[in-house]
Amino acid sequence: MSDMLVWEDTPLSSTPTPSTPAQSSLDRDGSAAAEGVSQRRVNIADKRIINGQTDVNQLVPFKYKWAWDKYLATCANHWMPQEVNMSRDIALWKDPNGLSDDERRIIKRNLGFFVTADSLAANNIVLGTYRHITAPECRQFLLRQAFEEAIHTHAYQYIVESLGLDESEIFNAYHEVASIRDKDEFLIPFIDAIMDPNFVTGTPEADQTLLKSLIVFACLMEGLFFYVGFTQILALGRQNKMTGAAEQYQYILRDESMHCNFGIDLINAIKLENPHLWTPEFKDEIKALFLKAVDLEYRYAEDTMPRGVLGLNASMFKGYLRFIANRRATQIGLDELFPNEENPFPWMSEMIDLKKERNFFETRVIEYQSGGALSWD
Ligand SMILES: [Fe+2]
Ligand SMILES: [Fe+2]
Repeated sequence: MSDMLVWEDTPLSSTPTPSTPAQSSLDRDGSAAAEGVSQRRVNIADKRIINGQTDVNQLVPFKYKWAWDKYLATCANHWMPQEVNMSRDIALWKDPNGLSDDERRIIKRNLGFFVTADSLAANNIVLGTYRHITAPECRQFLLRQAFEEAIHTHAYQYIVESLGLDESEIFNAYHEVASIRDKDEFLIPFIDAIMDPNFVTGTPEADQTLLKSLIVFACLMEGLFFYVGFTQILALGRQNKMTGAAEQYQYILRDESMHCNFGIDLINAIKLENPHLWTPEFKDEIKALFLKAVDLEYRYAEDTMPRGVLGLNASMFKGYLRFIANRRATQIGLDELFPNEENPFPWMSEMIDLKKERNFFETRVIEYQSGGALSWD
């Protein structure tokens, strides 16, 4: 019964392109009811990231080993929010003199953005990206990534609940706080474009729409829009405040760094297989989106920090965001947008490397980490 509902609701859920008439539905979506099962074995040379014709149910033979390796690395870094002890955070939050008004504003704005941001991210992966990607190695990573987005939403909810914050205020911030709403309104058209059930790849225009959406998601949402918030909460943790929340943000930052790097590899692999998509006009469009995103994230920094706090101020973030934008741009083969920017927060790089900074905040009760490549960013 539930299978029937899934089919009715998402008729295109695993059919990335309509231009595959010779391919059986078992090849593409694994339906047990499919007829005309192809006996053709998967040839590595035929596998493609998008618009592929090979059986997406056959993970091997591997072609995109980088995606599989990243999947393994994310699994080696599993964590759950409730393993982090929040008692010190709760005591500090309840102490009338524990935090300044500006620090409380940062925490509430942060949660206001993130409690819904990772749901947007999850929906984008599950209802959008996944069905357009025809490399099973990449789909495997996306499945893990989708679960991690659920863990992140869980983590933010866990912090909101632990501190006894007004849930309605926090969960509605993306409607009600302009600096948060503006970021989400920038993102949503790119998510909606690939979630549209009528959207299919297979033409240069559609493939560019998908590529643009992947770039906005990896480079600008996960790779830029998260960074003011991450830096603020981790700066609190460095001052021995909200250490439970900061530890969770550290794990989330590490996860997002992997997501961002996977997304960049995915983008570059699509470019390599489809060089005709990377036109001068397309690159100009992407550059304009980068500039807009830097502006929106800077305005968010100003709104969350009307005054200097924690040794941070909004103008320091101008340099930081430009530095990050340069890095994302060059990672996908664009020129630096703001030449010669330097990183004003070098300690953020160390936060991403959990091995180096293991138990930085010393609140966690269980460890899973067993090494793995944590130095991608
Ligand atoms: Fe996330
Ligand atoms: Fe993510």
